[in-house]
Amino acid sequence: MQRTRADKDVFAGIATDVLSDKQARRIQEDYEAQRFNQIFPAGSLAIPSMLVSRTQQMRQLSALAAELLEKSPSAQQSLIGIVLHGPRGTGKTTLLKAFSNGMRDTAATQVINMTGSGELSSMDALLNYLAAYAPKQSTSTTFQVAISAGVEGHLKRTTSELATEQAPLSPAHLLRALASATRPILLTIDEAHAADPRVLGSLLNSIRGTIDRRQGISIGIVLAGTPDTLNALRHEDCKATWFMDRADLEGRLAAVPNDLSIDDCGRAIREPLLAAGITIENTQGFERLLGECKGSPYFLQLLGSTALSAASQNDDIADFTRARAIDLTFERRVNARYHETWSDLDKKGLSACARQMGALWRKSIETGRIIKQGHIYEVIESGLTHAPRRTGRSEALGRIEDAEATFEHLGLLWSMTGHINGPWDLGLPSFFDFVEEQFQDAQNIRHHRVLPALEMDMQRLFQEIGPPAQS
Ligand SMILES: Nc1ncnc2c1ncn2[C@@H]1O[C@H](COP(=O)(O)OP(=O)(O)O)[C@@H](O)[C@H]1O
Ligand SMILES: [Mg+2]
Repeated sequence: MQRTRADKDVFAGIATDVLSDKQARRIQEDYEAQRFNQIFPAGSLAIPSMLVSRTQQMRQLSALAAELLEKSPSAQQSLIGIVLHGPRGTGKTTLLKAFSNGMRDTAATQVINMTGSGELSSMDALLNYLAAYAPKQSTSTTFQVAISAGVEGHLKRTTSELATEQAPLSPAHLLRALASATRPILLTIDEAHAADPRVLGSLLNSIRGTIDRRQGISIGIVLAGTPDTLNALRHEDCKATWFMDRADLEGRLAAVPNDLSIDDCGRAIREPLLAAGITIENTQGFERLLGECKGSPYFLQLLGSTALSAASQNDDIADFTRARAIDLTFERRVNARYHETWSDLDKKGLSACARQMGALWRKSIETGRIIKQGHIYEVIESGLTHAPRRTGRSEALGRIEDAEATFEHLGLLWSMTGHINGPWDLGLPSFFDFVEEQFQDAQNIRHHRVLPALEMDMQRLFQEIGPPAQS
């Protein structure tokens, strides 16, 4: 296999273990200029100073890069694609962005970035977007081909030569036009769960039909989204079930969980703080708050930026003592995040379902019993039956499948392996502890009132599940 620089270097600019001198200097400058979000980008789009704990996912992406750039023809013509899936805030967008940047910088690849809610929301949006990339001359040939090939969507406005005509086109025609260029193409789709399954399927099928390794035509695709992305790919309108073939599935899926270790979190915060010239006070308190990050990259960045701004007002000392500025602000920010998700669920009448899911998971951890799809349906049904009624109107019971899909859409429930039969996991278990607290709180009358009924249902289910499994 002919190797290019990009095979190894896609993530070259990204710090995972140590900061380079150059990176450290930049952090210092950003700190002095109070650009805290450049150092710990909680809720902004910058790449974090340190991208920790994603070795496996980066390896998968690097392998895709190598395959994409492979020059010698290969017998296999299978589409090379990766799906980054996981709960919200785990770093899917960050990985996608770091990968796109790397491919753009170091490789002879044409990178085309799209989002599910944008370019893949309708066929017209996709066609117009791709057409803008297609080289002018080939667009006109494509245009000819398109007319004889029939209608799949309408091209409204692309290059000036097409502006006056309405061309019926499919993504396949445009991809073919694009692929006649000498460079391989990398397509990325962020927020893929929001894509219209029909458009997504059409794109995947077009890519598959266009790839021709012997002619040197290589196209790769990386999708990123909440666990609901897999539902979009399996949707009957998608018609690209081959993409989710069991045989290929393992290599194609890259789960991105909230699984950062305390060590990883510690390094990701300590190194930039030290680079900024900040002293860490109270290492015990520091460790405790690292634990409060619950393995979430998003919470990790929140803690980092909280520490930075506190230190900037405290003689460059980050004091992690309990009930001091960092501790209190971080707790408030984490709770605000939980609260947002909680009220989202509550508005949809799903708060009791979340409570039951949390109870089911605590039980499974206690007993070592595996959670089955049937159990999930049972707790959702129980939660829907005893949903706290909002004042003024009694809501009709939702469908169990819809409720489950909502949990997946929010990334609260997922199957890391991508298999429909699980094993199922909670996206962020600590959120469900927060939910439990809301129900236990007697001041929270509307929720507290239904707790006995919820507990009774769980007692019955626990009897079914049985005593702790023998190890
Ligand atoms: N591997 C990582 N190490 C440290 N921080 C990370 C990592 N991945 C992402 N982050 C940070 O976590 C937050 C959420 O990342 P993002 O990519 O937006 O998540 P997602 O797209 O999965 O919702 C961002 O603030 C980002 O800087
Ligand atoms: Mg994202």
